[in-house]
Amino acid sequence: MLRLEGVSHSYDARPVLRGITLDLAEHRIGVIGANGSGKSTLARTLNGLVVPDEGRVTLGEWDTRRHARHIRRRVGFVFSDAANQIIMPTVAEDVEIGLRALRLGREETARRVDTLLERYGLDGHRDHPGHLLSGGQKQLLALAAVLATEPEILVCDEPTTLLDLRNTRMVHRVLDTLEQQVVLFTHDLDLLDAFDRVLVVDDGRIVFDGLPADAVDHYVKLMDDR
Ligand SMILES: Nc1ncnc2c1ncn2[C@@H]1O[C@H](COP(=O)(O)OP(=O)(O)OP(=O)(O)O)[C@@H](O)[C@H]1O
Ligand SMILES: [Mg+2]
Repeated sequence: MLRLEGVSHSYDARPVLRGITLDLAEHRIGVIGANGSGKSTLARTLNGLVVPDEGRVTLGEWDTRRHARHIRRRVGFVFSDAANQIIMPTVAEDVEIGLRALRLGREETARRVDTLLERYGLDGHRDHPGHLLSGGQKQLLALAAVLATEPEILVCDEPTTLLDLRNTRMVHRVLDTLEQQVVLFTHDLDLLDAFDRVLVVDDGRIVFDGLPADAVDHYVKLMDDR
């Protein structure tokens, strides 16, 4: 289980996370909050992309400060701009590169690439450069490439922000079906209905922690008062 204990972080002496303590145990956790409230910074602490100035983030006995590589293998991360994650000459290679770390051998790797491309409707694009895919397809490719590495936990930072409604729904359908734990940072409030738990971030603090409908109410009131 991911655990945050007294996590604080500043950029250039400006506090962005302020003493956050959390146990992230539920299967589906949403995180919402205003622009600049600290969500992406919080998301990045979960797999060691950001190591907090104070406090610690652990996964079981592993600490992001000391075992970043180990944690990154277990906590997959999906960015809102999937183009960041598409680096190889072809779609198939983008999925394959994630698989390499698992050292499965050539045949098993090829079999898994095929399975993932088929599952995410990308098999017709396997030899195309990833950057020619549509926004939604790029996001699905980024998801497929991260899931290829078989993380235990998937952290998604606004994975649908650049997508139209159809592709947003497609990405959410994929996230829905995953066995993995998902921690989803999003502005798509109505897609959190079925989540187990939703956190509201404001000015670097968790100001609400509870059921989706109550969290959304809290967030809306918070914004109404500004
Ligand atoms: N690498 C960085 N260097 C300096 N300041 C940063 C950096 N990353 C984020 N910040 C600042 O930290 C604050 C929180 O940013 P963060 O990206 O965590 O917010 P957010 O809640 O994800 O916002 P959004 O909803 O717009 O994505 C912002 O004021 C931002 O300018
Ligand atoms: Mg953000």
